[in-house]
Amino acid sequence: PASRALAGEVAVPTVIAHRGASSHAPENTLASIDKAAQLGFSWVENDVQRTKDGELVVIHDDSLRRTTDVEDVFPGRAPWKVKDFTAAEIARLDAGSWFSPAYAGARVPTLKEYMRRVEHNHEKLLLEIKNPELYPGIEQETLKLLGNEGWLDRGHLGRLVVQSFDADSVRTVHELRPAVTTAYLGTPTVTQLPRYARFTDLVNPSFTSLSAGYVAAVHAFDGPHGRPLRMFTWTVDDAVAAREVAGYGVDGIITNRPEVVRSAVSAD
Ligand code: G3P
Ligand code: CA
Repeated sequence: PASRALAGEVAVPTVIAHRGASSHAPENTLASIDKAAQLGFSWVENDVQRTKDGELVVIHDDSLRRTTDVEDVFPGRAPWKVKDFTAAEIARLDAGSWFSPAYAGARVPTLKEYMRRVEHNHEKLLLEIKNPELYPGIEQETLKLLGNEGWLDRGHLGRLVVQSFDADSVRTVHELRPAVTTAYLGTPTVTQLPRYARFTDLVNPSFTSLSAGYVAAVHAFDGPHGRPLRMFTWTVDDAVAAREVAGYGVDGIITNRPEVVRSAVSAD
């Protein structure tokens, strides 16, 4: 949990490096989480999808096109959907050169590789199940992998939040493993909040739709673990907006520019 403010103070929100330190290194790669750790950010966010042969991989788009050289390596396989490629095929792709020649050869990590590097770096993870409608059963598979890697043990549960834009997916994660902290990506109405609070510990809205009143309304409900709902908002990349949402009382800020947000909201 974010630190609680004393009376009259504003709590400093947790800063979460979106897709890793994605303005310094190619998003969702091992390099991006190494960079976040080097810069002193313990929380990273990622996106999980599934290959044709059932491997969980870390990538944002449902297509490989934007962040890899798939068009060169596999011409004629348009629209280059993640779900239409095997893990071995994806392992051949360069996921770094599009960002900078300095990262040539970076790979699309499997979730297993990614979790091991997060562990190695002593980081905390906001794991997004991306496009779950394309991958039936991905919630169970993700939890199984997390369990195999030790992330569902007591000592790790405080370092993990699983989120999705798909409320059914969040509810499924909660029902399968109630001990896991969950987050719904979106902005339920105040009337809808009691229903969401049965299965989600955090409500994570876009900062563009935020107000102090809405943050207070979310905090007023208890989540499935009997504690007040929390809120990480996204994706805040400038100092003015960061100060504004910190003033609203959000618990965390998801950002592509974590150092900008950190200096904007630090108490010093
Ligand atoms: O974590 C929030 C944010 O990642 C949601 O948007 O499209 O970047 O996955 P997107
Ligand atoms: Ca995401």
